Amino acid sequence: MADRTRRERVLTFFFVPALVVAVVVLLGVTFRNSFQLEKLREQSVVEATLTLANEKADRLDKRIIEQDNAVASLVDPSEREGFGAAWLAVAARQTPTVSNVFLVDLGSSQKEVVGFATRVPPLDAEAERRMFVREILPDLELVEPRTQLRHLHKTVQGQSHLVSYWQREVRGRPYVLVAWHDVPRVVHDLFPALYSERDQNARVNVVDEGSRIVFGPPLSRGSFTLGRRFETTLYKWQVNVTLVSAEELTAAVARRRSLELALVGSSWLVVIVGLTVVLVAAARERKLSNLKSDFVANVSHELKTPLSLVRMFGELLQSGRVENDEKRQQYLQIIVSESERLGALIENVLDFAKVERGKAAYQFAPASVKDVVSRAVEACRVRAQREKVELLLEQSDDMPAVEIDERAIEIAVINLVDNALKYAPDGQRVVIKTQNRKGYVEIRVNDEGPGIPVEDRKRIFDRFERGRGAQAKQIRGSGIGLALVKHIAEAHGGRAYCESAEPRGSSFVLTIKLREGNGRERSAAPREAVV
Ligand SMILES: Nc1ncnc2c1ncn2[C@@H]1O[C@H](COP(=O)(O)OP(=O)(O)O)[C@@H](O)[C@H]1O
Ligand SMILES: [Mg+2]
Repeated sequence: MADRTRRERVLTFFFVPALVVAVVVLLGVTFRNSFQLEKLREQSVVEATLTLANEKADRLDKRIIEQDNAVASLVDPSEREGFGAAWLAVAARQTPTVSNVFLVDLGSSQKEVVGFATRVPPLDAEAERRMFVREILPDLELVEPRTQLRHLHKTVQGQSHLVSYWQREVRGRPYVLVAWHDVPRVVHDLFPALYSERDQNARVNVVDEGSRIVFGPPLSRGSFTLGRRFETTLYKWQVNVTLVSAEELTAAVARRRSLELALVGSSWLVVIVGLTVVLVAAARERKLSNLKSDFVANVSHELKTPLSLVRMFGELLQSGRVENDEKRQQYLQIIVSESERLGALIENVLDFAKVERGKAAYQFAPASVKDVVSRAVEACRVRAQREKVELLLEQSDDMPAVEIDERAIEIAVINLVDNALKYAPDGQRVVIKTQNRKGYVEIRVNDEGPGIPVEDRKRIFDRFERGRGAQAKQIRGSGIGLALVKHIAEAHGGRAYCESAEPRGSSFVLTIKLREGNGRERSAAPREAVV
């Protein structure tokens, strides 16, 4: 016994927390692993996207610089007559985005444009030339090293301009050669050519310094969209790249996260529910096993009382020292009634065992409730006299004939009266009433005892359960009587309950449902029911 309790305690205080810790650790490790794996994947996607963005940005720079180099090789600054003619001849093919070429004399105080070749209509050309002189020329960075190709990307009145320029020296005089790129053309011709091609894995756009889209579709702002500025040419702008697979990945990651979260949550729920079920079952089992061991001791004790009475009076009679016949008769009556009680107690235990095994069989047959109740009361009368309690039987006259298991109802009533005698010994009377109610027959046993606290009223009908008062006063009992009463009542379609009686004491009620045929015609064959 002690061993078992110790084992149970080990289970509760060691294994349960250990189980919880194990589950937490397991979940934590799983979660961390998948998180790390995800991070690694993310990282590689980010790296791939970055490489792609670099490559895209470089592509434009390369294209523009190629054209710049073509201009540089085609335009000779020393040639004033027919300046840029060689370039104009091949411009459309070789340098499609260059629309004007300027040569500026840096030696003159005014920085005069001394050479100008253009591919645009004269009016536009004039406007662009003026714009160049006013807005672009002053911003050119004319520093060392002079041989270097430079770019200026400038926004004037919301319009982007790009020029490429070199410093040149012709016969000791400094000049600057400028190739003017037509930015709208870059956007409309070059970008599509560079970025819209076969690349189905990536989506690209170009945004200006104000993050307005210049080219391409809007891209999601997730962690898998990366931007890179054009390094040398359109350096105020930025190219953005999103891997299409990365977008899917983002969605997949989000989906998996929520799935994992749901999984973790539900496993937790399962663990908690499982643990609760196990703990509750263990507690119930423990309680039941305690109750059962109490029950064995209680039953043995309960049987002892009538047995010792039988023995005592038997020995008295045997000794032949009983003075008169009246006394002898009285002793014999006690012996008979106590052995009846003993029989009833044993029957109680046996019936209860049947109920427990699910083998309780009731034999229903038409019978008179009145007769059955009277018989049960009579069985208790001698004991009542000894306890100096008056048993009052009040039966109404309009009792219908009902289908019942006589023996079972008798046992139930004996149990109720026995309880009343046992637990209400200070009372004067125990009243047993039978009444015909609507749809059912009611058997009521009222006593004048201490009554039953409200919180105990349901519980005492459970097996092995005993009232607090009974335990405190050490009244013998096994806690199966009322459980049996309840079972019998339910088998008869009724119920068993207790309430407080007026002015004091308790009132135990057993009801029997009037079945079809009950109270009207008598069915010939007894009915059997296994409950
Ligand atoms: N008439 C009564 N007055 C007070 N308490 C009662 C009465 N009848 C039953 N009880 C309480 O209900 C408990 C359960 O009764 P029962 O199932 O017959 O078991 P037992 O009589 O063997 O203890 C009793 O232990 C007692 O505390
Ligand atoms: Mg009892």
